[in-house]
Amino acid sequence: MTFEKILVTGAGGQIGSELVPFLSDVFGKDRVIPSDIRLSTADSRFVKLDVTDRAAVDLVVEKHKVDTVFHLAAILSASGEKNPELAYRVNISGLYNVFESALKNKVGLVMTPSSIGVFGPDTPKENVPIETITRPVTMYGITKLMAEYLGNYYHSRFGLNARGLRFPGLISYKTPPGGGTTDYSVEMIIEAVKGKNYACFLKEDSKLPMMYMPDALDSLLKLAEAEDSRLKHRTDFNITSFSVTPKQLETEIKRYYPSFEVTYHPDFRQAIADSWPGSLDASAAVQEWDFHPNFSLQATTMDMISNLRGKQISQTA
Ligand SMILES: NC(=O)c1ccc[n+]([C@@H]2O[C@H](COP(=O)([O-])OP(=O)(O)OC[C@H]3O[C@@H](n4cnc5c(N)ncnc54)[C@H](O)[C@@H]3O)[C@@H](O)[C@H]2O)c1
Repeated sequence: MTFEKILVTGAGGQIGSELVPFLSDVFGKDRVIPSDIRLSTADSRFVKLDVTDRAAVDLVVEKHKVDTVFHLAAILSASGEKNPELAYRVNISGLYNVFESALKNKVGLVMTPSSIGVFGPDTPKENVPIETITRPVTMYGITKLMAEYLGNYYHSRFGLNARGLRFPGLISYKTPPGGGTTDYSVEMIIEAVKGKNYACFLKEDSKLPMMYMPDALDSLLKLAEAEDSRLKHRTDFNITSFSVTPKQLETEIKRYYPSFEVTYHPDFRQAIADSWPGSLDASAAVQEWDFHPNFSLQATTMDMISNLRGKQISQTA
């Protein structure tokens, strides 16, 4: 049985803050238990949970009779390079605790988002398939790759229904991104809407795969609900909506804000971006669980600006 009691870890983050209302709409509010190491006062359902505390994870899973986990608690790429030890602890020990608790409590499904961070400088740059050279050079990428292998191991060895997909950079406006290398995309749109210019921390031609949050949420649900018999992969599906450079995003934003200016000052995050591919092959997700993104770069930019302004907009150029 799944989706009767759904635990979301890291629920206060960029994805969790939107996944919780999304799952609540689909399955009912009383079936969703948001949790995070940071307590949210806005939602009375929130449970304070540090995933690195095994006993605490067990307690929450047992107490709420959890049958499904969306495990989002993590330290992202740029934050992970600032504190690799914390990234290891949260991304590996935290995941291990969730898998062990899930096994012990016969949890029916554990969703573990992965990332394009699993790729590295030796990975081909374009239309990258799932099975390719993956030699990540960040602690984040190393933990994400290990998480994919751990999920496959728990499935093949113990029958745990672990599933995951490699998110590209995610664009959203409700909660600020949590220290990733693609955060520039969100920041650039927000600054333009505020009427400010933007200093970008990546080079103008750094092409990376991206996705708008509604497509990310839809993808998580589709994979979670996919027929097990259709899945040839489990924890490492590539997904992507579009690929974009900072300059292309700037150009798109200028359709609404013609005087918007971006200057480019690459910092340590440039090396991370350089180690990731520019585009992905998402055909396995299409074949195995009908992945179908709806938002292009143009639609994403328009919807972001529209929501940030709080009203519908029309293009000025
Ligand atoms: N946002 C993206 O662009 C992106 C891209 C690829 C993959 N992902 C993956 O999606 C998942 C969620 O990412 P996100 O963008 O929401 O991240 P985020 O940084 O916005 O949120 C992560 C949340 O985890 C919480 N957290 C940190 N340590 C914790 C701990 N010890 N116990 C419990 N909670 C803890 C944080 O408080 C935060 O609310 C992660 O696995 C991430 O690797 C995200």
